[in-house]
Amino acid sequence: MAKLLEVKNLNTGFHHEGRIIPLVDDVSFFIEKQSILGLVGESGSGKTMTALSLTNLLIDRNCRVDNGRVMLEGKEISLSDENCLKEKRGKEIAYIFQEPTTSLNPVMSIREQIEEVLLMHRTDIERKSIKNFIITQLQAVGIHNSEKKISSFPHQLSGGEKQRVMIAMAMVSRPKLIVADEPTTALDVTIQAQILTLLLELKENFGVSILFISHDLNIVGQISDYIAVMYAGQIVEFSKAKELINCPRHPYTIGLFNCLPNRIKHANVKELSTIQGEVPKAGNFPDGCRFHPRCPKKFDRCSKEMPPLISLKEDQEVRCWLY
Ligand SMILES: Nc1ncnc2c1ncn2[C@@H]1O[C@H](COP(=O)(O)OP(=O)(O)O)[C@@H](O)[C@H]1O
Ligand SMILES: [Mg+2]
Repeated sequence: MAKLLEVKNLNTGFHHEGRIIPLVDDVSFFIEKQSILGLVGESGSGKTMTALSLTNLLIDRNCRVDNGRVMLEGKEISLSDENCLKEKRGKEIAYIFQEPTTSLNPVMSIREQIEEVLLMHRTDIERKSIKNFIITQLQAVGIHNSEKKISSFPHQLSGGEKQRVMIAMAMVSRPKLIVADEPTTALDVTIQAQILTLLLELKENFGVSILFISHDLNIVGQISDYIAVMYAGQIVEFSKAKELINCPRHPYTIGLFNCLPNRIKHANVKELSTIQGEVPKAGNFPDGCRFHPRCPKKFDRCSKEMPPLISLKEDQEVRCWLY
């Protein structure tokens, strides 16, 4: 399958008093067309920073993309050219965040909010057809009674409906890539499952690719074609989802599986447990492999030298001295 997005050696740092603290460290991955890449890792591992770096959407002025290339359909996105980035954001790469409540404007109706996005990105739709387009758009993301719902304000909708509205807004411009950062984390389990189904439908029906970010490997495992596991700002494992679920390689990935209730089972996982310790804070990364203080398989070399990301076979990479 052809690649839609390619990210190479992305580095994003927090710049403070002449020091650079790495938040995203030499991150490379790709996303195929019409496919879902799950990016998983504990909270604080750098997933959101990676997502924002793709279009240099970093709000904090001290955080900067210092290095790296992002290619969409083979064409480089110039991360320093704000005009180029403005064109890509929302239009070709659309974002959905965890908290629909904070992303939606509380004093605008759903219709007004979608219309705003529409006027920005869709000059092909005539004014008189806008209302119908919005209704259809809401139907497509599973909002019932959408003729009535377009006049609602955010507080009149349920959490699941608000996230569906966010998805509808992301889809208005028919983006090539949706970056969904913890889109189901604030929702309860049944709604979570419905949103996952919706995202899978969008992939099938519209051919959109999705970067699906979650701290929950169980959810990522259900939806992804490929999975990238992130730890302390680095990718530590990347492979096809099936491969990673059947045979996780990195001790951190195995640790994440060990923490799951029995929903995903495989031979490497013996019993439910937790990974001891915590994700090190940016700026406080240990020498050697960043995971070594928590790693049950560590040996001498692990505390001294950082392992590179090595290719085990095509489309399968791991950052660990065991391999
Ligand atoms: N504005 C910021 N300035 C400095 N450090 C930040 C900022 N935002 C996040 N970080 C740090 O960057 C690291 C990665 O954060 P983040 O990408 O939000 O992780 P995740 O999304 O995986 O939970 C964390 O150590 C976090 O404390
Ligand atoms: Mg995050």
